[in-house]
Amino acid sequence: MKVFILVALCLGVQCIGPEQVHIAFYTSPWDISVSWITFEDADSSLTYGTSTSSMQNLSGTTNTWHFGGITRHSHVVILKDLKPSKQYYYQIESRVFNFRTLPADLTTYKVCVFGDLGVYNGRSTQSIINNGIAGKFDFIVHIGDLAYDLHSNNGKLGDQYMNTLEPVISKIPYMVIAGNHENDNVNFTNFKNRFVMPPTGSDDNQFYSIDIGPVHWVGLSTEYYGFLEQYGNQSIFTQFDWLTENLEAANKNRGAVPWIAMYQHRPFYCSVEEGADCTLYENVILRHGALGIPGLEQEYIKNSVDIGFAGHMHAYERMWPVADLKYYKEEDAYHNPVAPVYILTGSAGCHSSGMKFSPIPMPWSAHRSDDYGYTVMTVANMTHIHFEQISIDKNGGVIDSVWVSKDIGHLHTEEMRMGKKGNAFY
Ligand SMILES: *[C@@H]1O[C@H](CO)[C@@H](O)[C@H](O)[C@H]1NC(C)=O
Ligand SMILES: *[C@@H]1O[C@H](CO)[C@@H](O)[C@H](O)[C@H]1NC(C)=O
Ligand SMILES: *[C@@H]1O[C@H](CO)[C@@H](O)[C@H](O)[C@H]1NC(C)=O
Ligand SMILES: *[C@@H]1O[C@H](CO)[C@@H](O)[C@H](O)[C@H]1NC(C)=O
Ligand SMILES: [Fe+2]
Repeated sequence: MKVFILVALCLGVQCIGPEQVHIAFYTSPWDISVSWITFEDADSSLTYGTSTSSMQNLSGTTNTWHFGGITRHSHVVILKDLKPSKQYYYQIESRVFNFRTLPADLTTYKVCVFGDLGVYNGRSTQSIINNGIAGKFDFIVHIGDLAYDLHSNNGKLGDQYMNTLEPVISKIPYMVIAGNHENDNVNFTNFKNRFVMPPTGSDDNQFYSIDIGPVHWVGLSTEYYGFLEQYGNQSIFTQFDWLTENLEAANKNRGAVPWIAMYQHRPFYCSVEEGADCTLYENVILRHGALGIPGLEQEYIKNSVDIGFAGHMHAYERMWPVADLKYYKEEDAYHNPVAPVYILTGSAGCHSSGMKFSPIPMPWSAHRSDDYGYTVMTVANMTHIHFEQISIDKNGGVIDSVWVSKDIGHLHTEEMRMGKKGNAFY
């Protein structure tokens, strides 16, 4: 109840006290960043502990930023080396929150993955809040297009969005990556200043990686490509070089961390009407590269990336394993896949509806749905991952599910693809 009273207060001109409280994984699942915003200059410390009766004080840092005539103070405290499988409490001024750390033996966990969720028409919001609080998944990955937009109305829509989600994102980690709607024309200021993602890639949340149990997770910016004209090409090269090294290192570590899962806003593969992002130049430059700009797909193929999530198209679509427009549509395609498996999950709740599928799906499309919803990915163990698509239109029912499995040591290779009956599109 208190949360809603606070949100109501915050809809006014000035907010009092810490708000928009959220947590994220930092360098490991047991290092948690706690972030919040104040509109008055305030102390960036909190107290925390495994019981409310023995809390210790920890200081953080404050980053003051200005947007649309409003000054915001973003505070962050990093809780390092937390004990596994423990309930932690943290208190910021008078507000107390709690979360539970993941177990040390982290072979199995659940993740909620989606893109494109706004304040208006945020169809999945309540379900994500309820299920997240109920422990139906351990963390959230939001693959771009937040709030529609974080910067709207001088950033007040972003404030409202973060306050609405606070009950769940103050309790389970909220991992984000930028979509095209995070471009606020001042170099993604609202996106960079509101979140604290792992400091393993770029320092501004645009790309990073983190190992969580058997999965090496990598979040990338596709917006460097989308806004190449506006911001120049340097970031594309910086990210590309980082990605090459990152995936090489991840490949060397497959024994301990066998899966690689990528997430990015714009898809490589999709089939919607007017889908310039699915087929035309925008897709070509991002996926394949053009005119000296390196595309991303070859790195996924070369490094045997297992899973690739994207949003941007306001739909759900599961692909057959596909590499460079060649797809592998077979009964056992998802066991020891010979190419990355892509899942488009951008149907959480965009502000504007009206997305239309192309009349005929692209040949690599295995299943598609335009119901509102989100994906729940269950990492079962070192060899098995399960995906379920939750439909809000069907009261939280599962409308598609698939197991992706592979033998220990399986890596897809060019030789393997050549030996399989792949269907070329071109
Ligand atoms: C924590 O310590 C800092 C620095 O000593 C102090 O300014 C702050 O008031 C303390 N915060 C709490 C909640 O005790
Ligand atoms: C955008 O910000 C990043 C740091 O967050 C910086 O490296 C980059 O040069 C900036 N780009 C432009 C075009 O201002
Ligand atoms: C990248 O941008 C620089 C500066 O605008 C330009 O000189 C260079 O040709 C560009 N490189 C490519 C591959 O487009
Ligand atoms: C991994 O999980 C799958 C699906 O639950 C199960 O069939 C398989 O036996 C598990 N493998 C191991 C080694 O536990
Ligand atoms: Fe988008």
